[in-house]
Amino acid sequence: MAYENILVETKGAGGGIGIITLDRPEALNALNAALITDLGQALDSYEADENIGCIILTGSNKAFAAGADISEMAPKSFMDAYRENFITDGWERVSQCRKPIIAAVAGFALGGGCEMAMMCDMIIAADNAKFGQPEINLGVIPGAGGTQRLTRFVGKSKAMEMILTGRMMSAEEAERAGLASRVVPVDDLLEEAIGVAEKICKLSQPMTMIAKECVNRAYETTLAEGVRFERRMFHSTFSTEDKAEGMAAFLEKRTAKFKHR
Ligand code: CAA
Repeated sequence: MAYENILVETKGAGGGIGIITLDRPEALNALNAALITDLGQALDSYEADENIGCIILTGSNKAFAAGADISEMAPKSFMDAYRENFITDGWERVSQCRKPIIAAVAGFALGGGCEMAMMCDMIIAADNAKFGQPEINLGVIPGAGGTQRLTRFVGKSKAMEMILTGRMMSAEEAERAGLASRVVPVDDLLEEAIGVAEKICKLSQPMTMIAKECVNRAYETTLAEGVRFERRMFHSTFSTEDKAEGMAAFLEKRTAKFKHR
């Protein structure tokens, strides 16, 4: 399917990696309603496709996304925003994605762009990436989870500094602070992200989905409840064909051939 605001392609052996590229270069990939609709549809179709084991969300070398679209927001009143539950439908689709999703971030990831990257499962940052929550400069505050997710990623002090002053963080600082899983040269960004996605695709798809669900539970509950949830999910993996295959392959000293069952 062709979209107006994003590009989609599949890569990897058997086409197991779905790549979504935000594509509004004239506005540094500012996230408007039309783009969010396209993104939601692309995610729906990758989630429904059993061949897709991992999704990569990326932008251009200049911008992952420079935030929610300011020209779209400027005329909205409180009542407009409240009635349409602005920044909810579609936006939360990324955080609800059940398959692993990697944000490959180069250039600006600001405001809603930073928030969208944080909704993904990991951020691989190009060395030119700049992360920030500059909403305060516009007379508003982050509205797509920035005050909550950034704080969980980098801790209160750094999150406060970024959100209260609008200061941007370099890729190196983002990695040091735990926001990015690693930093790579900008020209290698997509290749590196594809390398990670390929590793994920070779594994059992239900296991990667269950593992993701368990890690995400850590953000939602107490340690004791989270560990209990993990334990039950771990037990449930014993009912799968992939568990039988994975353990047999280890004992027989061969590579496992997962059936994603
Ligand atoms: N919305 C709409 N248009 C945007 C945009 C945005 N968030 N960010 C950039 N653009 C547009 C610019 O208006 C400009 O368009 P024109 O060429 O038509 O004038 C084009 O993209 C290129 O931008 P600049 O000329 O400004 O490029 P630059 O390299 O000089 O600066 C920048 C880059 C520092 C990222 C600057 O564009 C900027 O500060 N952008 C806004 C960042 C921001 O405030 N983001 C937060 C938005 S609010 C939000 O996201 C709320 C939320 O929590 C969900």
